[in-house]
Amino acid sequence: MNVGIDRINFYTPEFYLDLKDLAEARSVDPNKYLLGLMQKQMSVAPADQDSVTLAANAAKRVVDGIDKDDVGLIIFATESSIDQSKSGSLYLQELLKLSNSARSFEIKEACYGGTAALMSACDYVRTHPNKKALITASDIARYGLNTPGEVTQGAGAVAMIISKDPNIAAISQDNEVYSEQIMDFWRPNYQKNAIANGHYSQEKYLEFFKTVFEEYINKNKSDFAALLFHVPYSKLAYKAFKIACEKIDPSTREMLKKRFDLSIDLNQKVGNIYTASIYLSLISLIIQDPSLKKGDKLGLFSYGSGAVGDFFSIELTDRFKKSIDKKTIVEQIKRRKKLSIQEYEQFFKEQTEIEAKEISIEQKTNLKDFRFLGIKKDQRQYSH
Ligand code: CAA
Repeated sequence: MNVGIDRINFYTPEFYLDLKDLAEARSVDPNKYLLGLMQKQMSVAPADQDSVTLAANAAKRVVDGIDKDDVGLIIFATESSIDQSKSGSLYLQELLKLSNSARSFEIKEACYGGTAALMSACDYVRTHPNKKALITASDIARYGLNTPGEVTQGAGAVAMIISKDPNIAAISQDNEVYSEQIMDFWRPNYQKNAIANGHYSQEKYLEFFKTVFEEYINKNKSDFAALLFHVPYSKLAYKAFKIACEKIDPSTREMLKKRFDLSIDLNQKVGNIYTASIYLSLISLIIQDPSLKKGDKLGLFSYGSGAVGDFFSIELTDRFKKSIDKKTIVEQIKRRKKLSIQEYEQFFKEQTEIEAKEISIEQKTNLKDFRFLGIKKDQRQYSH
């Protein structure tokens, strides 16, 4: 039985920062960001968007038109959780009017959370073939103003429906995984911003990639139509891509490089969205490469600091082109309003300063999208 991604959609906030402006404000050569890190822009979340609303806005299109009673599992993957105890998936369930018979929970392992959710959802569908799962990967990447990681922030979510006979891609059960307790990137409970041992985290990402990729190649064919990566920033994914190419027939390298460039296009504009980043790359490739075809095998390297590395493959299925709403995704990027540095810093502070038991949040997101309204008696309020 084929199990995998039946529907997929992406949502990002309506605001972005041009990294040339950030470079100027931080007295850095813009080429460090544009060429050194290969990033162009980053989406910035206003205070009326959090990981729940980003996920709900991504998910509303994928649940539209399906029988909601079929959704037996909801997994909310994030490292920007809004509660230490309660799962964001329960808010999603309410906002999207999903069935109360569904198992509903949150999952976390840094940027690996989305893949952990995907693998768990596939296992669920394999044992409940008439059911579907909704998974969301949703994050606001925050390192802080004037930090080395500032340029690698971003905000957004990807939502997927996982089912048997999927429209977009079947997930192969060929994962090669390596996990180990390391301190490359983490966020203690008392902090809103992540702590990164930046250069060490780069080394570990590449080391984990080599380990799982070599193991994969020893056991499987390397007949990839494309290679996709977790993209904290595009240059690191490109370094991993080059390592992969050392093991791949030179005649196919050019084709893989063209597809790699298409796969990072949206990530270069949105920035790091942690758990959803690799699935944003998948969308970026599919909506921009007309030459992809049914049966093509894509290799994916998922990495979550802390750390877990997972290399696996997926196979494109019959209706993968028709099943992604390219127009809406492209328009979403285009509609974003450019922020000045002052506006960005204000947005950043407003996002990190939501501490009160009672607070009302000013509306910045358009009224059609789900919004975080504020907190009443310690309870988060959302627009329905
Ligand atoms: N023109 C062109 N290139 C330039 C340049 C210029 N003027 N100035 C510098 N560069 C290049 C450098 O040579 C370097 O490229 P190489 O790595 O190819 O040598 C690149 O720009 C970056 O320069 P630095 O290493 O000096 O940059 P930095 O010390 O300021 O920090 C960073 C970069 C470590 C990525 C930092 O932004 C950071 O800490 N980011 C957050 C952590 C992170 O993203 N880690 C990734 C792995 S962990 C993970 O994947 C999980 C996750 O999502 C967080």
